[in-house]
Amino acid sequence: MQTIIELAYLLSAVLFIFGLKRLQSPATARRGNQIAALGMLIAVVATVFSHKILTPAEMIGGLAIGGIIGAVLARRVEMTGMPELVAAFNGFGGLASALVAGAEVAKFITLSGVEAGVQTAGVGEEFDMILALTIGLSVLIGMVTFTGSFVAFGKLSGKITGNPIVFPGMRLLTLLLGLGSIGGIIYMMVGASEFPEVPDPVVFGVIALAVFAFVLGILLVIPIGGADMPVVVALLNSYSGLAASATGFVLDNTALITSGALVGASGLILTNIMCVAMNRSLLNVLLGGFGGESSLEEGGPAGAIEGKTVHTTSPEDAAILLSYARQVIIVPGYGMAVAQAQHQVRELAELLQEKGVTVKFAIHPVAGRMPGHMNVLLAEANVPYDQLYEMDEINGEFENTDVALVIGANDVVNPAARHDKNSPIYGMPILNVDKAKTVIVMKRSLRPGYAGIENELFYMDNTRMLFGDAKESLTKLIAEVKAL
Ligand code: TAP
Repeated sequence: MQTIIELAYLLSAVLFIFGLKRLQSPATARRGNQIAALGMLIAVVATVFSHKILTPAEMIGGLAIGGIIGAVLARRVEMTGMPELVAAFNGFGGLASALVAGAEVAKFITLSGVEAGVQTAGVGEEFDMILALTIGLSVLIGMVTFTGSFVAFGKLSGKITGNPIVFPGMRLLTLLLGLGSIGGIIYMMVGASEFPEVPDPVVFGVIALAVFAFVLGILLVIPIGGADMPVVVALLNSYSGLAASATGFVLDNTALITSGALVGASGLILTNIMCVAMNRSLLNVLLGGFGGESSLEEGGPAGAIEGKTVHTTSPEDAAILLSYARQVIIVPGYGMAVAQAQHQVRELAELLQEKGVTVKFAIHPVAGRMPGHMNVLLAEANVPYDQLYEMDEINGEFENTDVALVIGANDVVNPAARHDKNSPIYGMPILNVDKAKTVIVMKRSLRPGYAGIENELFYMDNTRMLFGDAKESLTKLIAEVKAL
């Protein structure tokens, strides 16, 4: 039986890896998700069987309830709400790891009370130092992930202010809690090494650790601005994996160790990709104070720079420019997601293609507010994958492009990133739309985007601003293109 269980775990680990591999491309991502979900199902069923925890009826009932909740949530959530959902999932994952580790302590207490000295549960024969360490790590990382993720959820959903929250002595308190948590783990380990059964220091240590880590998670995330939350969520995702992996060691469960390690590593890689594409260090993100909330009501009159003029255009003129172009490159950004204009974007692209225009989509790695944001939206609108080009593939083509159509993108097309050493985005790779013969920028005003900085692109001679909500402007533009 044990061999079958271990083989099932091995199979699930292999399925996780194949699933992850398929997530690399939008064309195979759906299948990748299904393969990984199958791996998880096998792991869950094998675990439940191996420990004879539930009856088959209870197991099917549990799977059905969890499955239905998951399916409803996944169907209901808007694409822009995805980081929130992931944050909530991470939070529950972290809490589950901490609770399972805590339950292991409780189990040893019960066992040592009933049959002192004869241990039947857990990894080792006794509550030793290693077990105390893994339980400690599980509780620490799990609790930090739990509260940190729910603060991130609150910030993303607007239930907590998106501006950094800081108070005097906060850094010191955070440091003390961090040191206290490490102290708690050491206290547990020292106590555990002296007794085969669960001694008081372990119980005291695990409770203190849980409380410290609970507060620590909150203090680590509140000073970070709402706009940086996707990076924080990716990092917390990695933490939830590490917590699960630590819990896997507590329970001696191979599937949990492997899947936790995969989540931990991929979350860290994703965090790094996001930081590199934003040209910021992880430390800079974690220290906070960048990219708070901004709204249309804030800022100067329509965000214009004094003394500089912009050229505006109308849907009629833009339609002529687009219809008579040889090649058009569409650059979507966060504004397209806000306006939910992806279907209109696809319709416009098809109309232009019918007129013989070559249409390509340029995707910046951090356009929008989450990894793959633009790919997912355009896929939802059935834009063929082969029309989507990554930044490195397409940047050389702008020089030979008649019109670059920028839809709700701002920072990812800001030329200051190339030359202005004082700009916070200096060094960030951008899409070189300004090299196109004409650039049409669709947004509601001249206000800045996420990085909160001016964009000289809007004032260039070859740029035409088409002001308005992206969906409304595109609807007018489509009507004009049809009329031509
Ligand atoms: P942003 O620079 O944030 O600019 C988006 C623009 O969309 C805004 O300037 C806004 O201008 C416009 N907009 C908003 N609602 C609109 C609507 N309904 N219709 C038309 N336009 C609308 O976006 P971006 O160029 O996609 O860059 C993304 C930024 O987010 C980067 O700085 C990146 O580092 C950061 N970031 C990305 C990620 C990931 S993983 N994607 C994660 C964290 C941070 P108006 O207000 O004038 O309309």
